[in-house]
Amino acid sequence: MSKILVKTKTKTYPVFIGNKSLNQIDKFISSDSKVLILIDKNVKEKCSQLVEKIENTFSDKNILIINCTEKNKSIKTVEKICKYLSDNFYNRQSTIVSIGGGILGDLAGFVASIYMRGIKLIQIATTILSAVDSSVGGKTGVNFHNKKNLIGTFYQPEAVFINSEFFSTLHKREIISGIGELVKYALIIPDLYDFFLREIKQVLFKKEVSDKLIQTSISIKAEFIKADEKEETGLRKILNLGHTFAHGFESATNFRISHGQAVFSGIICALMVSERKCLMQGNVLKKFLKDFSFIPNNKILKQIDTNSVLNFMRSDKKNSQGEINLVLPSKDGIVINFPVEENVLIKTINSFKRMI
Ligand SMILES: NC(=O)c1ccc[n+]([C@@H]2O[C@H](COP(=O)([O-])OP(=O)(O)OC[C@H]3O[C@@H](n4cnc5c(N)ncnc54)[C@H](O)[C@@H]3O)[C@@H](O)[C@H]2O)c1
Repeated sequence: MSKILVKTKTKTYPVFIGNKSLNQIDKFISSDSKVLILIDKNVKEKCSQLVEKIENTFSDKNILIINCTEKNKSIKTVEKICKYLSDNFYNRQSTIVSIGGGILGDLAGFVASIYMRGIKLIQIATTILSAVDSSVGGKTGVNFHNKKNLIGTFYQPEAVFINSEFFSTLHKREIISGIGELVKYALIIPDLYDFFLREIKQVLFKKEVSDKLIQTSISIKAEFIKADEKEETGLRKILNLGHTFAHGFESATNFRISHGQAVFSGIICALMVSERKCLMQGNVLKKFLKDFSFIPNNKILKQIDTNSVLNFMRSDKKNSQGEINLVLPSKDGIVINFPVEENVLIKTINSFKRMI
């Protein structure tokens, strides 16, 4: 088992990685703390033994099962959880334990941050995406009127637990989704490009997610969070590479494609924009497409309505003064807040649709 400390201005907390990581969990619940365990419905059904072991760790607890879809990542579900907390007299000493992927983690984090102005939160990641990305960093939130993560907070957990045993029951779609966020790290840290390329192949073809891969990903994310917890200086925005297109793709398909799949496609589009804008030297896009050609694109995107994607991109949180700002790869590293004209975005989305 390994431990990474995530240091932020508001909190320092550990991320435990490994098969024995869950043995540490009781250390984070004080004896006077009543626990609400939120569990993703699929995790409860498919990982029942692991889940039961976690449930048994807590004495004073209730369990609420959540059907985790992007549609249910909503204010309505937040209200349902808050009502449950209130009806069962949870108080400021209480703790929410989230056992699920990114959807549940974002929902649970949001509820923990607003119920009684903030109660304790523990994240147990059950998807690859949540293990390498979303469980750490404190971004919480829900979708609003089809707009991705429009309402949310920054709220750090007490601790995060990652046990890759959970991943054996993941559907291929979710494995590809996790890969989307890993590809992002490969481009952000050029020195680790080959490491991530190798590891991603292991994940896709052998269903092997090494603890080293998780540790490396979380360590990268932790550095960005330490430097810029709330995206104030802009440094953390680098982690949003591909996400402006991705959120447009997710919303315009009515969430029929997974988040990570959308991120992978969004990264390709970001590279295409960089090439159009002459931000990169040589054939970076060509090399990337060749190196990562083993990752399938979701053909739903071929039929996507370009104007609808653009419309959702206009609502992105990174925009300012009516301009669509992108995070883009460049020859000097990743640039943030790069304003891109709408006609360039339209051409890029159309070329991407023709390409896949
Ligand atoms: N907070 C952040 O920093 C951050 C970062 C990246 C993504 N996100 C958010 O994360 C979400 C995507 O997360 P995700 O990819 O984990 O999706 P998810 O939570 O929807 O899980 C994907 C699917 O896998 C199922 N599942 C979960 N664990 C399983 C297991 N062990 N075995 C079998 N099935 C399992 C779920 O029920 C769901 O159907 C998006 O909403 C995205 O916006 C947040």
